[in-house]
Amino acid sequence: MSLAGKKLLLIIGGGIAAYKSLDLIRRLRERGASVRAVMTGAAQEFVTPLSVGALTGEKPFTELFDAASEFDVGHIRLAREADVIVVAPATADLMAKMANGLANDLATAILLATHRPVLVAPAMNPAMWTHPATQRNFAQLIADGISAIGPNQGEMAESNETGTGRMAEPVEIVAAVENLIAIAPDKSSLKGKRVLVTSGPTREPIDPVRFISNQSSGKQGHAVARAAAAAGAEVVLISGPVELPDPSGIKTIHVNTAAEMLKAAEAALPVDVAICAAAVADWKIDDAAPEKMKKANGGPLTLCLSENPDILSTIAHHKRRPKLVVGFAAETEKILDNAKAKLAKKGCDWIVANDVSPETGVFGGERNTVHLVTREGVEDWPTQSKEAVAGALVRRIADTLKRAGK
Ligand code: PMT
Repeated sequence: MSLAGKKLLLIIGGGIAAYKSLDLIRRLRERGASVRAVMTGAAQEFVTPLSVGALTGEKPFTELFDAASEFDVGHIRLAREADVIVVAPATADLMAKMANGLANDLATAILLATHRPVLVAPAMNPAMWTHPATQRNFAQLIADGISAIGPNQGEMAESNETGTGRMAEPVEIVAAVENLIAIAPDKSSLKGKRVLVTSGPTREPIDPVRFISNQSSGKQGHAVARAAAAAGAEVVLISGPVELPDPSGIKTIHVNTAAEMLKAAEAALPVDVAICAAAVADWKIDDAAPEKMKKANGGPLTLCLSENPDILSTIAHHKRRPKLVVGFAAETEKILDNAKAKLAKKGCDWIVANDVSPETGVFGGERNTVHLVTREGVEDWPTQSKEAVAGALVRRIADTLKRAGK
């Protein structure tokens, strides 16, 4: 794949693998990308700004508080203008700062300010890589929607040690960049559009300490919200209780019950696009007990359930109906038949159908196999990461609005 016309921002962290970044710049430019480089203070101990600048054709950026660079380009522009940001090598220290939202130098300030896809290529000593703190930070970055390549196994450049911690080879990083660009929405394709996304489960209380809910983790819905923001949209994310952090730069409203989600969704209108990825509980307990319920001498307990309001259907029939209303359908059988029935019944424009049978691992997992059901027909999408599903969906939404002149 050609990277012609693509703008890459390469953040070089301070590790011995920084020498491979020089080759990475060369290979990215060979494919037609323009590369801007940011070097941390530690990176400059391993490779010189002169070598990096000679390869990128532009002086690398090094200081957050450099008046000349801030007036000229500035860290916010660096964060926003790139099609993809690559962090290579991503040291343990840099990943720890990213995972915790620190922004005390140019590299971390850019990483905190960006909505663009970010790819990290970790590189460090195997003991540092396997340390629980690094593993925690790395898991946090993945949960935040950051992509990663490597680290690979092999001999360390700085010692005779062997283990996992070698930075991925430049050719592998280039392939990962190409893949990220292929799934990333164009950064201004939803500029000026307001997008509402619902995500995660709802919880319907039985009493003050018990509830009925489902296994939605919010990963798919949050990925959709991030992809829409990456496409330039102003996003309102309404999230049920999930363990994910709020996506940076996205207004996130936290709710528990379906009734609260509906209220927040109606309050967010008008929007151009609504995407309902939340797994809303279909029923609520009629009279939730005000105090913790006691066992009834071994006898059965009967809970009376009544139907919750349908948020997707309410939005699709609203007087301030968005231009495009997209629902998801979580099915365990007759996926397409049920999804088509939901499309008709709920009055939305599209349904993204997925199989949530336990063996698929979709609930809570990283990957998803979806079918896009529209009035024109059904498209079967390949199994891919939830980020990739979100990117493809947002690209599709942007194309549709553009073609309809909306
Ligand atoms: O969160 P993850 O672990 O990443 O898993 C992702 C997912 C499986 C939750 C997601 O991909 C998905 O399928 N979301 C929709 C889940 C769902 O509730 O499906 P449903 O078929 O029951 O509902 C159909 C549509 O109606 C959905 O858009 C749902 O948000 C909406 N709905 C349902 C009931 C209700 N009372 N109000 C609604 O708005």
